Amino acid sequence: MQRLTVKVAKPYDVVMERGLLARTGELALEVTAPCKVCVVTDENTHGLFSETVSGSLASGDFDVYKITFPAGEETKDIAYFGKLLEFLADNEFTRSDIMIALGGGVIGDLTGFAAASYLRGIKFIQIPTTLLAAVDASVGGKTAINLTAGKNLAGAFHQPSLVIYDPETAEHLTHEIFLDGLAEAAKSGVIADKDLFDYIMISDDPPFSEFVTRLVDSSIRVKASLVEQDEKDTGMRQLLNFGHTSAHAIERLSNFDITHGSAVAMGMLIASKAALVEKWSRTDCYTPIKTFLIKYGYRMDPGFSPEQLAAAASIDKKRHGDVVSVVIPLEIGECALMDIPIDQLVDFFKAGM
Ligand code: GLY
Repeated sequence: MQRLTVKVAKPYDVVMERGLLARTGELALEVTAPCKVCVVTDENTHGLFSETVSGSLASGDFDVYKITFPAGEETKDIAYFGKLLEFLADNEFTRSDIMIALGGGVIGDLTGFAAASYLRGIKFIQIPTTLLAAVDASVGGKTAINLTAGKNLAGAFHQPSLVIYDPETAEHLTHEIFLDGLAEAAKSGVIADKDLFDYIMISDDPPFSEFVTRLVDSSIRVKASLVEQDEKDTGMRQLLNFGHTSAHAIERLSNFDITHGSAVAMGMLIASKAALVEKWSRTDCYTPIKTFLIKYGYRMDPGFSPEQLAAAASIDKKRHGDVVSVVIPLEIGECALMDIPIDQLVDFFKAGM
């Protein structure tokens, strides 16, 4: 079993191995005594994994309570957040009880925010079941729900007590959902791990489980290192936003028809082309990133003009005052933050498209 410790104020482990879902109870006992546990799933993960996880928890003497929500981004809202808190209160959960998020980013964010809020904070365990959640959202303690005005506008920093990843879960993902996670893994490579990016580009059809384990292990190492330096996201951690200024604009303009990973892939392409044209990079990062998009069959053209993207990006959370922080690749494996004035954003997009 691979084990990595995320050394934040309250350190926690990420454990990874095929078949770990069936050992959830034993692993949970590393971070708590037997207690009540609220397992949160969506309609997809409930059918696939809930029985294995709950059975293992019951054999570890946990008192298991299960709640299942509809699958999809709409679940990350204040109504379901309220339902989850009421469920905990109705079942008399106390501060020594725990929650488990068994699902993708939506379930992880919703459960994490409920865990941060209920009784002013109880422990929770992340069991990501999508590649996207495994390589990014399950680690780092960002929890949130969406408001009518936008995504992730209410939330808290609340680190999990443990993250359990079972690569077998990736075998249940559609190709499109798998590509979402792969884009974030490639992003980790571009910002801080050239070997990971090279592995994604040149590995010759390795066994799927080996491929997924490498993506998750290396991406989490990149993320853990940045989160350890900047837990509350005021500096270095923002490097994780490579490709995300464009991605969030593309997602919003498409009414979220374009998925996050696909938008991140196009966002990396735009940022790397702008960096090449403007001579901000030391080496050409655009060509390898373009080759990545082609190799895995990502969409290349967002279908929006530089003016539309600039307008959407100017209302992004990454704006502070009259500038937006954009991540620029210096070379594959090293990126830097750069402030772009709002009135120059359209030039950034023109250079990148
Ligand atoms: N997903 C970026 C972060 O956790 O900071």
